[in-house]
Amino acid sequence: MTRVFSGIQPTGDLHLGNLLGAVRWWVEDQRQGETFYCVVDLHALTEPGDPAELRPATLTMATWLLAAGLDPDGCTLFLQSQVPAHTQLTWLLECTASMGELRRMTQFKDKAARHGEESARVGLFTYPVLMAADILLYDADQVPVGDDQRQHLELTRELARRFNARYGPTFVVPEAAIRPPGRGNRIMDLQEPNDKMSKSSVSPQGTIYLLDDPVTIERKVKRAVTDPDDGPDAVRYDPVTKPGVSNLLEILASVQGRRPQDVAGDYTRYGPLKADLAAAVISLVEPIQAAYLKWTQDPGAVSSVLRAGAERADQVARVTLARASDAVGLVLPS
Ligand code: TYM
Repeated sequence: MTRVFSGIQPTGDLHLGNLLGAVRWWVEDQRQGETFYCVVDLHALTEPGDPAELRPATLTMATWLLAAGLDPDGCTLFLQSQVPAHTQLTWLLECTASMGELRRMTQFKDKAARHGEESARVGLFTYPVLMAADILLYDADQVPVGDDQRQHLELTRELARRFNARYGPTFVVPEAAIRPPGRGNRIMDLQEPNDKMSKSSVSPQGTIYLLDDPVTIERKVKRAVTDPDDGPDAVRYDPVTKPGVSNLLEILASVQGRRPQDVAGDYTRYGPLKADLAAAVISLVEPIQAAYLKWTQDPGAVSSVLRAGAERADQVARVTLARASDAVGLVLPS
């Protein structure tokens, strides 16, 4: 049976990019294989943040994942920090990775550049190794992620191959399950269509959150940056020369399960495209919002899902950690 693993940072509220690029596929994958999904709270410590906010943000993210359709009986949902094998395997993999390859990670370069590399946390530098440990512990064949995680997945595969070559077959080499272009793998910011939609966007108007009410969603879509209206074929899918409108087409296509090129054929003007897009996003998020409200009324239920998830994940992760520890020559507890 296919093993699937994926993770998400505890940013609190889920946004449309997370949903269309990753979480929606997680829900679907529950029917195809054995699935492990993790809120990666240790990854959140790689950048400055308020400890008082981390706990609620972590639980809120777990609640959104359940509301979006993760089924506690169909998947293992857990918090990374509750399974100690994640940090333990990270050490073995840090002794497998090289400084040079971590220095090439674009996410580190981008984030370190913001505040200066000298003061960047060591954890930010080794972040991709912790991510590799997350994945390799579960012998995952498939890792459903958005396009922005491609480089991290390549590193994970490389570390698994290197470890196996050095110490003997230990890890499954995972595949990145990144959906093809045009299927939501890279949702862009509505205000800055050359940047990906994200929580850290400079403009709050550029990101649609699952908690946004219909009026807010309509406003954000209506104000989305489009490209100059260049005549009768202004609505066309061309991410290079028309990034704004292409992003709107991609979101609508992704919600409708169509190709953005086909959706473009339905429109000649931006206004109707935006109106349909807002309506489609509202219908997509409304049932998730209703489910979210239900889960928030029973926080004990969320905690119990996470407790059971951590137990199950721990059982699987321990076995892989022991295999890897044995392979490198450590003496296992007798
Ligand atoms: P994170 O928390 O930034 O994002 C979670 C998932 O959402 C996808 N995503 C997007 N997809 C399309 N368009 C967007 N604008 C967009 N923004 C986010 C991401 O690609 C991701 O799949 N390093 C990871 C978390 C992680 C992880 C792991 C993932 C830690 N360990 C192990 C997979 C396996 C991250 O920061 O994702």
